[in-house]
Amino acid sequence: MPKDIRYKLAEDTITNSEIKKLSKWLIKADRLTQNKNVKKFESNFSKYIKVTNSTFVNSGSSANLLIAQSLLESGLLKNKIVIAPTLSWATTVTPFLQLGYDVKLCDTNFKNLGLSIDHLEYLCKKFKPSLIVLVHVLGHANEMEKILKICKKYKTFLVEDTCEALGSMVKRKKLGSFGIASSFSFYYGHHISTIEGGMVCTNNSNLANIMKSVRSHGWLRDYPQKEKNKIIKKNKISKFQSRFSFIYSGFNIRSTEINAFLGINQLKKINQISRIRQKNYNVYLKHLKRFHYQDCKTNLLSNFGFATMLLNRDEVFDHLTRKKIECRPIIAGNMSAQVFWKKKDKKEKYPNAEKIHDYGLYLPNHANLKKDDIVYICKEFSKKAKLLKNL
Ligand SMILES: Cc1ncc(COP(=O)(O)O)c(C=O)c1O
Repeated sequence: MPKDIRYKLAEDTITNSEIKKLSKWLIKADRLTQNKNVKKFESNFSKYIKVTNSTFVNSGSSANLLIAQSLLESGLLKNKIVIAPTLSWATTVTPFLQLGYDVKLCDTNFKNLGLSIDHLEYLCKKFKPSLIVLVHVLGHANEMEKILKICKKYKTFLVEDTCEALGSMVKRKKLGSFGIASSFSFYYGHHISTIEGGMVCTNNSNLANIMKSVRSHGWLRDYPQKEKNKIIKKNKISKFQSRFSFIYSGFNIRSTEINAFLGINQLKKINQISRIRQKNYNVYLKHLKRFHYQDCKTNLLSNFGFATMLLNRDEVFDHLTRKKIECRPIIAGNMSAQVFWKKKDKKEKYPNAEKIHDYGLYLPNHANLKKDDIVYICKEFSKKAKLLKNL
C-alpha cells in the first residue's frame, strides 16, 4: 500500500489535545501500573455497555484469551467443545485452540456476515457444544434472537467478539451485552483507541472475579475481600503467603494507567463516533446498494467498513490503490483457509465463508471521513466494480 494513501481504512482517534491532557497528568502521576484509572475506565465502560463487570486488558486478542481461560477455570462448561465463526479474526479462534478446546467452525450468513443459523443448529445438534462464539462483523449484529434461542435449546453459553462493533445496538441493547462474556478491542483504528487495549464484559460476578485473577498471574490479590477471605479459609493460606497465592492458571495481560487514561477520554466520544459511522454507512448504502448484501437488524450500526462482493476484486483493488483509496478483505476472510487451520483440518467445507474469502472486499469507514470523501470513494469504486451475482 503506498505511503501517500489518502482515504485510509482507519485513522487514529486519539487527538493532540488528548495527548496534551495525558502529558499533563503523566508528569504528576504517582503510579503508572494498573491502578485507579484502570478501575475508572472499567466502571465507565460497564455503565456504557450496561453490564455489571468489565476487565481491561492489553488487547482484544488478550480479551478473547482471558474469556477462554476464565470459562475453563469457572467450571461452568460441560465440555470443551466450542463453535466459532469461520469469518473471524485469527485470535477469535486461536485462544480456544491453544487452551485445548475442540473448535468447530461455523459458516457465515451473507445477510449480516455473522453465524449461519442453519449451520449453527446443525453443529449444535451434532456436537452439543458448551460454548458458541460469534463475531459482530464490521458492526453488523448477528441474528441475536435466533442465536439466543439456540443457546437455550442446547444449553450453550454465548461469547460475543465485539471487537468490530463497539456502539452497535439491537433493540436498544448494546452488542456485547447478550452473552456470558464479550470482548472489545481498542487497537489503533478501532472505534476508540487506547493505543493497544481490550476489554472483557460479563454480568457474572463470579466469572468476573476469576477474570481479574487470571489477568494478573492467577493470583488472589484482586479478589474482593469477602471472597478472598473464603478462599484463604478454604485453602488454609497464611497471612504471610496470601499476597503470593495463585488460585488459577493465569497470564499477565494487564494494561497500564496511561492506556486507561486515554480510554476514559476516548469513551466520552463513542456516541458521536457511532453516529458518524452510521451516517457514513448510509451514504455508502445510497450510492452502492446494489453491491451490498447486508440487511441486518442493527438499530444503531456503528459500522466498521462497507462490505461488498466482487467478481473482479483484484482489478478494483489496483484501481482504488491508484486513486489512493485503501481497501481490504472482509476481516481476514475464511479462517479455515488460513495456514494455521489448514494444518489442523483440511476436509470441512464452508461455502459462504469461502465465497467471502474469494470475492469479499471492504471500503473505509471511520469518524474522520466526510460525505464528500465517501461519494468520491463510491464513484471510483463504481467505475470498475463488477458485482458478484447469485450468491
Ligand atoms: C473480530 C476481531 N477480534 C479480535 C481482534 C483482535 O484485537 P486486537 O488487535 O486488539 O488484539 C480483532 C482485531 O482487529 C478483530 O477484528
